[in-house]
Amino acid sequence: FNYKKNHYNSNSTSWISWVNLQKEMKNKILVIGSGAREHAIVRALDRSPQDKEIYCLASNMNPGIAELCDEILIGNFNDPDFVVNYAQETGTTLAIIGPENPLANGVADSLWNAVVKVVGPKKDLAQLETSKAFTRDLLKEYKIPGGPQYETFNSMDGVAEFLNELGENYVVKFDGLAGGKGVKVSGDHLHSHDEALTYCQELVNSDGEFVIEEKFIGEEFSLMSFCDGDTLKHMPAVQDHKRAYEGDTGPNTGGMGTYSDANHSLPFLSDTDISQAHEINIQTAKAVKDKFGVGYKGVLYGGFMATANGVKLIEYNARFGDPEAMNLLSLLESDFIDICNGIADGTLDKVHVQFENKATVCKYAVPEGYPDNPVKGEPIDVSKIENPGGLYYASVDFKGTRLVEAGSRTVAVVGMAETISEAEKIAEKEVSSIAGPLFHRTDIGTDAVIQKRVDHMRQIKC
Ligand code: AMP
Ligand code: GLY
Repeated sequence: FNYKKNHYNSNSTSWISWVNLQKEMKNKILVIGSGAREHAIVRALDRSPQDKEIYCLASNMNPGIAELCDEILIGNFNDPDFVVNYAQETGTTLAIIGPENPLANGVADSLWNAVVKVVGPKKDLAQLETSKAFTRDLLKEYKIPGGPQYETFNSMDGVAEFLNELGENYVVKFDGLAGGKGVKVSGDHLHSHDEALTYCQELVNSDGEFVIEEKFIGEEFSLMSFCDGDTLKHMPAVQDHKRAYEGDTGPNTGGMGTYSDANHSLPFLSDTDISQAHEINIQTAKAVKDKFGVGYKGVLYGGFMATANGVKLIEYNARFGDPEAMNLLSLLESDFIDICNGIADGTLDKVHVQFENKATVCKYAVPEGYPDNPVKGEPIDVSKIENPGGLYYASVDFKGTRLVEAGSRTVAVVGMAETISEAEKIAEKEVSSIAGPLFHRTDIGTDAVIQKRVDHMRQIKC
């Protein structure tokens, strides 16, 4: 019997039998994306004892993914028609979308239209990530706590006045996907109102909309929730490090490394901080469902700041964090296929979601010169890694049979232990063993940096 969707007949009896057959049949899972996050997703799927086939649509030949998949195909996964065709060819029952660009292009909508279940929100709901103004307006409209004072602009009208109102603490955000590069923070990237006005003028000149908002002072953390449209199951909190160099200096990156703690909180957070973040995710999922009449099915990733006045929302992402996925999926004890089907089917309330009570530290090795002038095509050697199960491939490629850097974050390693301190030592040893023109941040997860975060939080709270 061929279960391919284009063979299904849409009268209602066939529909019911098709749904029942789906439950009994093999999981044919398509993972979209080929970075370390997707390597972690594929590993978590592979750990499931269920009968399965795994396919991957990739932008580069990730050897970790290739090893675990039935097929990996390099192609333009941002193109909805291409993805749907491949899903139909492979008889995909469930697709998991890793990165944000396919979400922004409506790949989830097209897959659902082709009767393929999806983990990853439809285009309208992915605006939580793709439009800063959308998210700020949503929080305001639905009276969800955690939003800053903000205004949206598409010309210079009122910009100087609003900057004056905010004083020294402001952030200017280009209103679209900019790979983390569209955000400029006062004191960090902008050192005067004049500099801010120049940046705003650049955005106006390029026809861009932008948001100016109040700058929050505190410690950032990521709190992700699995969401089936109604039910949310929260994951442990994680802290990312966006700056390229030690001591949180240098240009912004996709994230150089992350840590999580054994109690699923972070050393600088209170129980109230965690429950406020949960509540903001819950209310946001409810708000988007109310607004669009369809539920958010995927991973809802809140980027939060713990401040003296409670938890504030910096941004939403409509997908798993990278590197956060490597921390969290390493800890996941439950069956990831059950979770993904629960998200897509709207039955997450019946799925057991449990994470191990261990600490994790993830560190990325990135090319020399990253992010502005990364070396490319140079060989790397991971043969000294002691625990291959903690190694995740990202932006790599092959020159003949040699593994080479492809220009972005190259490989990540995860250390797992009873404490952050021990996990850091494992991750540091592993990442240092990788040979090639690479660098990493030695400070992520160290006792000194954790203490700095705790002291900072204590200082701003008093
Ligand atoms: P985003 O792309 O919105 O996550 O912004 C990138 C980075 O800018 C965040 O990780 C924060 O470090 C910083 N940022 C963004 N918005 C704010 C804010 N309102 N207050 C303080 N920092 C912010
Ligand atoms: N860890 C940052 C991101 O995934 O956007």
